[in-house]
Amino acid sequence: MKVFVIGGSGLVGSHCLTYFREKGWKVEGSHCNYATDRTSYYNTLEPQNKNNFDVISFRPDVIVHCAALTNVDYCETHEEESYQHTFKSTEHVCELSMICGARMVYISTDYVFNGDHGPYNENDIPNPINIYGKHKLLSEQLVINSIIDSLVIRVTNVYGDEARAKNFVARIIKQCQDNKQPFCLKLPYDQFATPINAYDIARAMFCLISDKKKGIYHLSSTDYMNRVELAKKILSYLNNDQFINVEPVDSSTLKQIAKRPLLAGLLKVKFTNEYPTFVFNSVDNYLASIRKYSFSEWKHP
Ligand SMILES: NC(=O)c1ccc[n+]([C@@H]2O[C@H](COP(=O)([O-])OP(=O)(O)OC[C@H]3O[C@@H](n4cnc5c(N)ncnc54)[C@H](OP(=O)(O)O)[C@@H]3O)[C@@H](O)[C@H]2O)c1
Repeated sequence: MKVFVIGGSGLVGSHCLTYFREKGWKVEGSHCNYATDRTSYYNTLEPQNKNNFDVISFRPDVIVHCAALTNVDYCETHEEESYQHTFKSTEHVCELSMICGARMVYISTDYVFNGDHGPYNENDIPNPINIYGKHKLLSEQLVINSIIDSLVIRVTNVYGDEARAKNFVARIIKQCQDNKQPFCLKLPYDQFATPINAYDIARAMFCLISDKKKGIYHLSSTDYMNRVELAKKILSYLNNDQFINVEPVDSSTLKQIAKRPLLAGLLKVKFTNEYPTFVFNSVDNYLASIRKYSFSEWKHP
């Protein structure tokens, strides 16, 4: 299997690169602004750019599109930029997939839902409440309607090993390691989601691609929690957790620019019915596994 992973320098894409290569697939991955030693340049906004990796000559069987502008508040105030980075970028990747005759995998989000009654399954009706969610939904629909062999994978609250350590779990760990002064972390107790390890997304995607699955799939672990619970769980593994005081607050007091779906998150019943022996990691599994390799800052069992 030959796969081109767009956004291979990012959180989800980097795990796809690693896992697919371990499994023996021929994989190329791309970066845009953050070059890595195992990715080539490819800009989805400039399909004709001469510096782009030559995807057509590579002749991928599958193109995995992980590129996105994921800063939800920034998208809210920069609607056109969000449209370009999410929708137009996806339109270009659809065109590229058609030229290559490749199947396409698009990564989407629970932000396509309004958060009234999550966690959601694939049959629930999307109704996004912010610009990022609207553009992700438009892009999903484009992919499903224009590429016959397409797969849309919805995920949320992704964490895991990451070069730039910018996901929520990695940031709390880093703050705890760097900070020697007490500080307060205000987090919403009313935003619920289903955190998932990027490594598991790559593993599940491998199964779905191998079996030529199509349509929409939700992926999640067994965790369903709010941000306060997630932060406290992470801190429970760290020694200097006393420096961080988690203050639970109502979302309305945070004045976040973009509205957030509150009861969000995803149900993976469809995936589990098709892959009953597939086991997802929990946040606890992940924290326990990385504690093994490091630090004086980590509590020992
Ligand atoms: N992380 C989450 O919690 C989460 C939740 C739900 C859905 N998702 C979706 O999952 C997908 C992957 O997210 P992620 O967390 O892995 O994001 P990420 O770590 O921010 O990675 C985004 C990737 O997109 C690349 N990129 C940005 N603009 C590009 C462009 N114009 N052309 C080509 N590549 C470009 C980036 O390259 P450079 O960094 O090299 O510029 C990076 O490799 C996205 O579609 C996102 O919407 C993520």
